[in-house]
Amino acid sequence: MKMICGNWKMNKSRSEVVSYFDTFKALLGSQDQALIAVPYVYLEEARRICSGTSIIIAAQNVHQQTSGAFTGEVSLAMLKDIGIDWTLIGHSERRQYFNETNEAVALKLEACVSAGVHAIVCIGETLGQREAGKTFAVLSEQLAPLYASLGRCPRVVVAYEPVWAIGTGKTATTEQAQEVHAWIRTQLKEKGILTSTLLYGGSVTPQNSGALLSQPDIDGALVGGASLKPADFFEIVRCAR
Ligand code: PGA
Repeated sequence: MKMICGNWKMNKSRSEVVSYFDTFKALLGSQDQALIAVPYVYLEEARRICSGTSIIIAAQNVHQQTSGAFTGEVSLAMLKDIGIDWTLIGHSERRQYFNETNEAVALKLEACVSAGVHAIVCIGETLGQREAGKTFAVLSEQLAPLYASLGRCPRVVVAYEPVWAIGTGKTATTEQAQEVHAWIRTQLKEKGILTSTLLYGGSVTPQNSGALLSQPDIDGALVGGASLKPADFFEIVRCAR
């Protein structure tokens, strides 16, 4: 079964959250599963609405420290306190707009492992880096500080999201995505990480998800824009059956 994760980013109101899940829950079949990363303020409500379903509610980010003077941040203990045990980390928007470095992402991953929270770690190159032939060098740099913690993860989930494909409508071709996924899988195996779930992200839609998910090394999808509409997101979840 492929793994499908939605990422709402900074979208939706409280009433939209409620009506989204009314529709989405009605669409989901008994065998379907989905994760959805929602804004912090709606985590608890979304988790409550989805309890008893196969929908897992995830955070979009977390801070690596356990507590203290970190104004505006949220700790892993706080997430666990409200029943959240999945989070995205290292999303390219966090790296780009909030200056998260590879090392900061590694600290977050280590904190997640220690706290027993599952992380979906995002990596990916920019268009300039791809055009300069640096895709694998950039991905190597992003992965290097993560291996030690990945090796301790009960479930390794890495999302490959080429930055040039995020929110742009320019999806990587199935060949481009498969090539990178196979490469990531090999890197992980070389570090002794034999089992991994590799998600593709970047303008995944109901139209292209079938082809992407049919690739041998694409184990799922991380879906931004198309996860905002329950019917569209459900079409992608259905491709994972
Ligand atoms: P997109 O976003 O599907 O809107 O391109 C993906 C993501 O940022 O996770």
